[in-house]
Amino acid sequence: MMGDIVAQFDTPEARWAGVGPYYAMFPARFADSVVERFTEDGDTIIDPFAGRGTSLFSAATKGRHALGVEINPVGWVYAATKLCPARRTSIEARAEELGEMAGRFGKSATRMPRFYRHCFSESVLAFLLAARKHLDWRASRVDRTLMAIILIDLHGKRELAFSNQMRQTKCMSPEYALRWWKEHGMSPPKREPVAFVKKKIAWRYARGTPSTLESRVYLADCTHRLPGLHTVSSRLAPKGARLLLTSPPYFGVTNYHYDQWLRLWMLGGPELPRSSGERHRGRFQHPEHYRELLVSAFMEAKPLLAKDAVVYVRTDRRRMTSAITREVLKEVFPKHDLRRRPRPLNGLTQTRLFGNGAPDDGEVDLVLTPN
Ligand SMILES: C[S@@+](CC[C@H](N)C(=O)[O-])C[C@H]1O[C@@H](n2cnc3c(N)ncnc32)[C@H](O)[C@@H]1O
Repeated sequence: MMGDIVAQFDTPEARWAGVGPYYAMFPARFADSVVERFTEDGDTIIDPFAGRGTSLFSAATKGRHALGVEINPVGWVYAATKLCPARRTSIEARAEELGEMAGRFGKSATRMPRFYRHCFSESVLAFLLAARKHLDWRASRVDRTLMAIILIDLHGKRELAFSNQMRQTKCMSPEYALRWWKEHGMSPPKREPVAFVKKKIAWRYARGTPSTLESRVYLADCTHRLPGLHTVSSRLAPKGARLLLTSPPYFGVTNYHYDQWLRLWMLGGPELPRSSGERHRGRFQHPEHYRELLVSAFMEAKPLLAKDAVVYVRTDRRRMTSAITREVLKEVFPKHDLRRRPRPLNGLTQTRLFGNGAPDDGEVDLVLTPN
């Protein structure tokens, strides 16, 4: 059994595929099987709702080009990192620099809201504040890779994370967390932050980094960004991408921003969680807005695809999401045949985390092939 667990992580791909905890992520094996079945070496795949970049990573590590867009900075940091991680020695050196800078953040740490002082020890909080201020994760590969490694274990099981006990995938509200820690008499773990982060780096890099074919993921709203991808897309795929593999946000299920509020704080967001009122960032409550997002995303992606491209969409099986998605796909790709493949739940998916356990919880694959 122990041997199996070790074997699961004996390649660089296996170690990097897990970057990082994110909702509704595709199981890596699922992405691998779709990429292998529908594309060949040198082809390009597109994912307009890339999340943590599972489909992109799978394509890029299998000799395909990958092009993606993701609106949530947490997903984007993970996706961009695993497509192109920085050198181990560079991020170790950067972690040490942050450790030195952390000394200047001791006072700020004591002034943070109560939640933070119960979530992190003082030295960890000072280190995180230094990382938040100094890591230029948008522009620097080294800083982004280090930020990704910090984000993965920002919260999680107390023995394994920077934080007091917390779920790794979803950050609880400050009030709930404070109440829970008090009831269970739990305090933040004492850690030497630089040594802790170096341990995480050592594990991630122990088998090296995966080799990937040239690929890109953009931090943006796909409905705005896709039209600008023509140049890069026609360079990578002169005849168009062969596969669009994606999973759009599900109607009425989650708000990727609220549930990731602590990681978003690390990336410069507000100190306390709030629902974003911004379009395409909130929970989808209006069928018309949801429909518009899907129409716009698939319409903008279509010109980047080859005529005989396959469109593979995994989505929520519940009525509203699957009905709207089906309708939109038929409208945007009238010359494709659409097959519906229901699938049982496996692993932690959005519907399992948020669903009400109703028999229609689960996911469905909508597969469009040229007719
Ligand atoms: C179901 S998740 C995709 C998960 C992904 N398959 C993975 O393996 O991580 C849907 C993603 O769409 C993103 N999203 C929502 N609206 C978007 C938009 N307008 N443009 C780009 N991404 C968007 C969400 O932030 C979320 O990460």
